[in-house]
Amino acid sequence: MGAEKKWVFTLFSAAFISLLIFISTIFGLSSSYYLPFSSHKPFASVVHRGPGHPPAFAYYISGGHGEVERMFRLLLAVYHPRNRYLLHVSTDGTDIERVRLVELVKSVPAVKAFGNVDVIGKPDPATYMGSTNVASILRAAAILLKLDGGWDWFITLSAVDYPLITQDDLSHVFSVVKRDLNFIDHTSDLGFKEGQRVKPIVVDPGLYLARRSQIFHATQKRPMPDAYKIFTGSPWVTLSRSFLEFCVFGWDNLPRTLLMYFTNAVLSQEFYFHSVICNSVEFRNTTVNNDLRFMVWDSPPKMEPHFLNTTDFQQMVESGAGFARQFKKDDKVLDMVDEKILQRGHNRVTPGAWCKGRSSWFSDPCSQWGDVNILRPSQYFKKFQESIGKLLDDWKSQSNQCR
Ligand SMILES: *[C@@H]1O[C@H](CO)[C@@H](O)[C@H](O)[C@H]1NC(C)=O
Ligand SMILES: *[C@@H]1O[C@H](CO)[C@@H](O)[C@H](O)[C@H]1NC(C)=O
Repeated sequence: MGAEKKWVFTLFSAAFISLLIFISTIFGLSSSYYLPFSSHKPFASVVHRGPGHPPAFAYYISGGHGEVERMFRLLLAVYHPRNRYLLHVSTDGTDIERVRLVELVKSVPAVKAFGNVDVIGKPDPATYMGSTNVASILRAAAILLKLDGGWDWFITLSAVDYPLITQDDLSHVFSVVKRDLNFIDHTSDLGFKEGQRVKPIVVDPGLYLARRSQIFHATQKRPMPDAYKIFTGSPWVTLSRSFLEFCVFGWDNLPRTLLMYFTNAVLSQEFYFHSVICNSVEFRNTTVNNDLRFMVWDSPPKMEPHFLNTTDFQQMVESGAGFARQFKKDDKVLDMVDEKILQRGHNRVTPGAWCKGRSSWFSDPCSQWGDVNILRPSQYFKKFQESIGKLLDDWKSQSNQCR
């Protein structure tokens, strides 16, 4: 693991390291802060994962310029020592912002001890509507697969998302879920997307231009493919480890062929995993048709869902979703989620059964810990359990799968 860690954490090129040292000198920071903080594990308790233990999750949290504080808040809200986290500030953010994120992350005692959070030091572009987004997600999956052999599901989040349940709740409810199932909202009914997103040929300049620019459209359109069927759906996914190995290692050519095809499609992250999974005989039976997210859309839908606020709190809680989007920075409703559901203090991680410290305004209960492999669901897990139960019934009936 040691050598791989170094590679990942990263990810900082030699030039970037010099820059960091330069910055650290200016700001008087410790000159060792670009080292993997994962190497300090003085008080970590033993983490048990795999079959027979509660499931663990690998989170990919992406953001851009000006979103470091929100990414950090989201990390605290979804943090658990048994999980793994990878944070990515895309190329429109600055190296100063990345260093700031590393500093924030390092300030959390449990993160320092368990070493389960990494920040990508060599960022990728995130072109609006372009295919570079799929490349970043696949890269994140590849890093997480390489770094950590213990997680069961990969969850994509962005800086405007927030959880509606604790990690103890999530892991508890997912304990009864077969670990090869994939939660991915999908349909082959493309509607307006056929004409506006699949047939138009676009090129994402993020693939070859260093500066930020928008995708451009070719004048010709292409016919619909007949070598495979196109599926679309929510870009927010919860995917199994085995399916991501299939996509990343590529022993079957399908994931690679579709990746090449969708390079030239608008918003390929709304098509890629959906089409790969539904065209694969091996994996199509593992799809649960839901993204586990709470969103409120206009009709007809705009590019992004509504900003949620305190008026939506009750509906959010009752939705049985695991996560919600999207939120304005530090909206009051996030404080409500922290206080009522997560019971999370300012700048502290969401407490769980693993936290053993005293809880008061000056003492963080999660600055000390005991056995991290036990769970204590909150009073809010029931709705989520119910909705997962319904989804699993739905999955068994196969009535709503890859159609
Ligand atoms: C998937 O489900 C179909 C329909 O029940 C079944 O015929 C097929 O054998 C299943 N495939 C796999 C790989 O389990
Ligand atoms: C919450 O959002 C809704 C619709 O997006 C808006 O009508 C309402 O005024 C907002 N409420 C608050 C308290 O901001």
